[in-house]
Amino acid sequence: MDQAQGLRMMGMPQNELGTAMGPGDNRTGISSGEAGLKVIALVSGKGGVGKTNLAANLAVVLARRGRKVLLVDADLGLANVDIVLGLTTRYTLFDVVNGSVELKDILVEGPGGVWVLPASSGIYEMTCLDDQQRYAILDQIEALDDRFDTVLIDNAAGISQDVQFFAGAARQVVVVTDREPTAITDAYATIKVLSQRRTNLNFHLLVNNADSESDGMDVYRKLTTVTDRFLNASISLFGTVPKDENLNRAVMARRPLVDLFPRSPASTQLNMLAERLLSLPHPDGEDGTMKMFWERLFHQNTGRGEK
Ligand SMILES: Nc1ncnc2c1ncn2[C@@H]1O[C@H](COP(=O)(O)OP(=O)(O)OP(=O)(O)O)[C@@H](O)[C@H]1O
Ligand SMILES: [Mg+2]
Repeated sequence: MDQAQGLRMMGMPQNELGTAMGPGDNRTGISSGEAGLKVIALVSGKGGVGKTNLAANLAVVLARRGRKVLLVDADLGLANVDIVLGLTTRYTLFDVVNGSVELKDILVEGPGGVWVLPASSGIYEMTCLDDQQRYAILDQIEALDDRFDTVLIDNAAGISQDVQFFAGAARQVVVVTDREPTAITDAYATIKVLSQRRTNLNFHLLVNNADSESDGMDVYRKLTTVTDRFLNASISLFGTVPKDENLNRAVMARRPLVDLFPRSPASTQLNMLAERLLSLPHPDGEDGTMKMFWERLFHQNTGRGEK
């Protein structure tokens, strides 16, 4: 029996927490002021659980607090970051790979000084570049090193190769879910695939549309009851974001919630979570430099003709 099937059949009972970490657990105590690039990928199993809105608002909060944030729109099919932040994007990474524009020319500045990198399709070509093309892009990326200290990656829902590609190059993976059993089951499936592909990923559960903090703990227990049993994955409870009608208003206005309704319930929580994001533990050091992150991207085996 497949584990995901087992999870459904088990009805995900609320057992004791296993060995996984609790909320806000910070084993290394890295502070927000510490040097080094942080790369955080947001993923979900089920679609529409809030990744894009949470990523965009977290990015804006971090930028307004002085972090140098690059928000990568890695939802290649349904890129939405530009819409949520009210931006117009012209080029994508595909144009850089094709050599028609430089990397710095595709970055678009958003609210609070966030920079958005529209990824778009064609990303697999980055794993098939010849050495000369690779070095040309890495040269451009090196020039971005001083510009950014935090990279947030908004992924597509599910466990497509795109998601595995981007999340596989990050160390910290925020798994977004809501309280619905389908979303929790799909979150499990996502963690399963990613943890089997890469062993050094740290997973952090973010429960969106929660009524209370205890909702977060409830989902966390359900999930870790099964992950502890079937997977070799470290999962912490990152936190919750409440359902907040202001978010829909902000989306309609194409403005970040944290700017338009800074004191709304979800904004308050997002401000707190942005701080927590910066203190996520790093099991085996910082993510290095932008160049190292992109080298990791280049050298992944996507199963699509990597050299
Ligand atoms: N905390 C919240 N309160 C109210 N509405 C929310 C909340 N979080 C998300 N939404 C709404 O849910 C919808 C989906 O959000 P979003 O596009 O961010 O999800 P997503 O996970 O990125 O979706 P996809 O998987 O399609 O990329 C949006 O209309 C958004 O306004
Ligand atoms: Mg999205």
